[in-house]
Amino acid sequence: MTDRHLLLSATNITVKYRRGRQHFTALHNVSITIPEGSTVGLVGESGSGKSTLAKAILGLAPIASGRVELLGQDITSLTGRRRRQLGSTMQAVFQDPNTSLNPSFTIRRSLTEPLRAQNLLAQVDVAARVDEVLIAVGMEPDAANRRPRQFSGGQRQRISIARALITNPKIVVCDEAVSALDLSVQAQVLNLLNDLQRKHGLSYLFISHDMSVVKHICHEVTVLYRGEIKESGPTSAVTTTPQDPYTKALLLAAPIADPRRQRERQRSVIPQVFAEPGDDFGSQEADFPRHSTTSD
Ligand SMILES: Nc1ncnc2c1ncn2[C@@H]1O[C@H](COP(=O)(O)OP(=O)(O)OP(=O)(O)O)[C@@H](O)[C@H]1O
Ligand SMILES: [Mg+2]
Repeated sequence: MTDRHLLLSATNITVKYRRGRQHFTALHNVSITIPEGSTVGLVGESGSGKSTLAKAILGLAPIASGRVELLGQDITSLTGRRRRQLGSTMQAVFQDPNTSLNPSFTIRRSLTEPLRAQNLLAQVDVAARVDEVLIAVGMEPDAANRRPRQFSGGQRQRISIARALITNPKIVVCDEAVSALDLSVQAQVLNLLNDLQRKHGLSYLFISHDMSVVKHICHEVTVLYRGEIKESGPTSAVTTTPQDPYTKALLLAAPIADPRRQRERQRSVIPQVFAEPGDDFGSQEADFPRHSTTSD
């Protein structure tokens, strides 16, 4: 992976949210790099800061310190028109397709929105591009004339991916993009993301709380816990020989397909991992960094 060109890097990112008169540190000195054509996973429990890092990269979270570079260009504090111009290189898919598909718009209208935002409508053959992205995600081109309510959740998520692809981005930030889908539909969408990567050399920042999904799709993975990185590296290394107790706990929480092995594991390890403070795991847990809340 190291010989691949670096597409995106976020270095020493600290994000603080304002809560009344106080600051809440949601991310502390977090770094992540995404090579061209690869999928980098970001895992961690709810509230660990995954979406905050995605938002920091997308210019939607208050970065207190650190630097975000896209293709070598410092984009940390780009705002307004210059930030929107990045939209042709970087797109996002979120858990809820309704955030990108307005229920009252036709699919065509939603799909062409990123082209409109980038002032690209005059430069591309819009009808052909709409057909192309719908076909790329396994939908019929006539889907363009319908509205979101006429599609299932999985189909809507495919359409959200089509919308992200329409500007020909190099990187797509997928924030829990498959989490709301049934397992079989999840697998279809993951395969679709893999196919698109092979065909177009796309990179993904793939956010999930589910280690089994991450194992399936990510080349590298970073584990976040309470706003700090616990561990990162090639997915095979992190998932087979995790170095950090929190990573081990996450892996143990991921379901195993074989019910007999799952039962054995529950008997043997889960009680230790979720043990009370004071025993072995509890004392390690006590060393984990905490979010800090500081006054102005
Ligand atoms: N706009 C905000 N203002 C204040 N605090 C926020 C804001 N957004 C997020 N937070 C806090 O920052 C922390 C990290 O939130 P974030 O949404 O990044 O977590 P996450 O890992 O994406 O969780 P989930 O798996 O539930 O999506 C949480 O404690 C959350 O309450
Ligand atoms: Mg989130």
